[in-house]
Amino acid sequence: MFQSLTSLPADPILGLMANYRADDNPKKIDLGIGVYKNENGDTPIMTSVKKAEEIILNSQTTKSYVGPTGAADYNSIVGKLLLGDSLVSSLGKRRITVQSPGGCGGLRLAAEFIKSANPDATVWVSDPTWANHVPLLGSAGLKIESYPYYDYATHSVRFDEMVDCLSKVGSGDVVLLHGCCHNPCGADLNQEQWQQICDLALKQGFTVLIDLAYQGLGDGLEEDVYGARLLASALSELMVVTSCSKNFGLYRERTGALTVISDTDAAAAIATTQIAAAARAMYSMPPDHGAAIVQLILSDTDLRKEWDAELTSMRNRINGLRTQFVKKIQEVGISEDFSFIEREKGMFSFLGVNVDQVQTLVNDYSIYLVNSSRINVAGINDQNIDYLATSLSAVLKT
Ligand code: LMR
Repeated sequence: MFQSLTSLPADPILGLMANYRADDNPKKIDLGIGVYKNENGDTPIMTSVKKAEEIILNSQTTKSYVGPTGAADYNSIVGKLLLGDSLVSSLGKRRITVQSPGGCGGLRLAAEFIKSANPDATVWVSDPTWANHVPLLGSAGLKIESYPYYDYATHSVRFDEMVDCLSKVGSGDVVLLHGCCHNPCGADLNQEQWQQICDLALKQGFTVLIDLAYQGLGDGLEEDVYGARLLASALSELMVVTSCSKNFGLYRERTGALTVISDTDAAAAIATTQIAAAARAMYSMPPDHGAAIVQLILSDTDLRKEWDAELTSMRNRINGLRTQFVKKIQEVGISEDFSFIEREKGMFSFLGVNVDQVQTLVNDYSIYLVNSSRINVAGINDQNIDYLATSLSAVLKT
């Protein structure tokens, strides 16, 4: 039976990670997969996470099953991290939060949930969007369409075209928005634009799904959820997928959540049963370790303070690198304007070079980035920034 299968290409992001690891060029630079890196190019375990892990190791008394919707205390505390105390209390039982295996698992849960609610739903994704959105949502059987989002020439959001396109989307369809730190382009909606999207959702009746994988890595923990909170307070229905991969550095622990706001308490109770059944059918229940760490950190005053400070320094480092990189680009004599990199948010920006130039950077310079020219800014450091800028300068001249 298996002879009928043909081999598939490597995932465009995960494949880069493997190629980078196999490259023995001492000058190699990893600007590929979206993981935070410190000034030494390492992705360390956060100190708050290490401390929480130690406490858990010494105090945990059982490894018995938790359940398909995950740990109730984790769900409660990550719901509050996303929405804040007052919104959580005003939404009451209309809001549910369900633990998921990372942000990917949360997105897939959302897709299954959408599919049960409306098998004919189309999910509208931004052009461009994260490379894995389409397979993740599409393999659940949902139709995918895109709306204009990023203007490669002006390095800004094509907001008028986005609104024009979404003005034709109606009830029963879903619009996927990036909550902050847009992946791959780093160009986010401003507060006024969030308000307009909110008004449009109310007028058109489409349902919004927000992917929020980078809370705390753009402008701040509160600032980065501005749009999500605005929509959560104004719309009768909303789905938000959050991830603890980046802001807690828990990538391999697969820790995330799906928050669903329904129009009534009764509808929310039904949603819980649907999501629990979807989880059970796919993976039975989410892994516990990462969630236990997050729950402990967020509920312990000292650990939370320490985590917040660590996250702040990660965010500041990324924002500082954006400024430093733009300056270095000017210093090496590149005449093209790269100042947009400083305006964009989170880990990613497009370099704006073409696929051939990307391939030259990868093959001739061992500088790893996605074909779209997306770079992970956190991969830049004091040791590699000169080599990066001079290599880019050489490639731009080809
Ligand atoms: C990325 O976009 O690089 C990250 O979200 C990691 C991944 O799974 O693709």
